[in-house]
Amino acid sequence: MRSEREIVEKERVCVTGAGGFIASWIVKLLLSKGYIVHGTVRDPSDEKNAHLKLLENATENLQLFKADLQDYNSLCGAIAGCTGVFHVASPVPAGRAANPEVEVIEPVMRGTRNILMACSEIKVKRLVVVSSVVSVIKNPDWPKDQPMDESCWSDEEHCRKTENWYYFAKSASEREALEYSKKNDLDVITICPSVALGPMLQSTVNSSSMILIKILKDGCERMLNFVRLVVDVRDFAEAVLLVYEKPEAEGRYLCSAPSVERQDFVDKLKSIYPKFSCLPMTPGEEKGQELNCEKLQKLGWTTRPLEETLLDSVQDYLEKEILDKHF
Ligand SMILES: NC(=O)c1ccc[n+]([C@@H]2O[C@H](COP(=O)([O-])OP(=O)(O)OC[C@H]3O[C@@H](n4cnc5c(N)ncnc54)[C@H](OP(=O)(O)O)[C@@H]3O)[C@@H](O)[C@H]2O)c1
Repeated sequence: MRSEREIVEKERVCVTGAGGFIASWIVKLLLSKGYIVHGTVRDPSDEKNAHLKLLENATENLQLFKADLQDYNSLCGAIAGCTGVFHVASPVPAGRAANPEVEVIEPVMRGTRNILMACSEIKVKRLVVVSSVVSVIKNPDWPKDQPMDESCWSDEEHCRKTENWYYFAKSASEREALEYSKKNDLDVITICPSVALGPMLQSTVNSSSMILIKILKDGCERMLNFVRLVVDVRDFAEAVLLVYEKPEAEGRYLCSAPSVERQDFVDKLKSIYPKFSCLPMTPGEEKGQELNCEKLQKLGWTTRPLEETLLDSVQDYLEKEILDKHF
């Protein structure tokens, strides 16, 4: 007799940029729930994607497709047969790009447009676009004492003037995705995570993990400005699946753990990694902007404590010998 698991048709979904930090956790979660996953990578034979094949259920249920965001046909090939798509792939620049048009704006904007069109053509039931907190927080007109919510958008003109091209591209592409959804018969949800931290499944270090590594290694005070608003990468993967699976989910979602003050963050790191030393904090620091993630919480999303995220991250960096084990 066939088991119930065999009888139930498994759902087939596509994850773009499958080998990246966040996407790898999404792929892992989807596979653990029994989904059949089409993962797009730019080079399936590259060693940096090898971890995907080792994930639980990957042998039977994960298929890798060679696809570039700027190549529409390659994306269609990967999405064909899928009912859902998670668009995660994007350049995530570590600093200022030498050629922002080619390195950031084109792949983000055209990539999202190609995904939208491919999803329409293949008639997927729902597309989840991973946007970013950078498409929310660059809004000089938002009242400082009011937590930012889904109605807050980075000011694209301001981003352009200040040459924050990543902010500009993520905001413009997210806005376009939601507008496209209204005009076309495609269910699109966007989700904006803050800085994602946590253990890495992949072997190469991604930009947001590098922020924490720089803080830990070099006591890099400047980097502490980035980590007030963080989300555990595993909690974020759960959020992405939640907005995909909940029929009532719609529109845009912010996704961040409760904010943390710099001194708190430093104290937590010191207790976890005694070798960490950081210059004393400058007193009188201006209170940072808060995010309101109630819309996501109402769908049932919860976060783990920051201590757990930091502990698991440090443990991972020690195991990978990115951090020195000798205290
Ligand atoms: N990490 C964060 O803190 C954070 C916060 C907010 C939002 N996000 C968003 O989350 C998503 C994933 O970020 P991540 O931190 O996981 O970054 P990541 O580890 O650098 O992964 C990015 C992925 O995108 C792929 N990619 C880049 N350009 C591509 C192109 N032209 N065609 C096809 N694939 C391309 C990369 O493939 P290759 O390996 O081939 O380069 C890589 O797999 C991005 O959309 C990012 O904007 C991240």
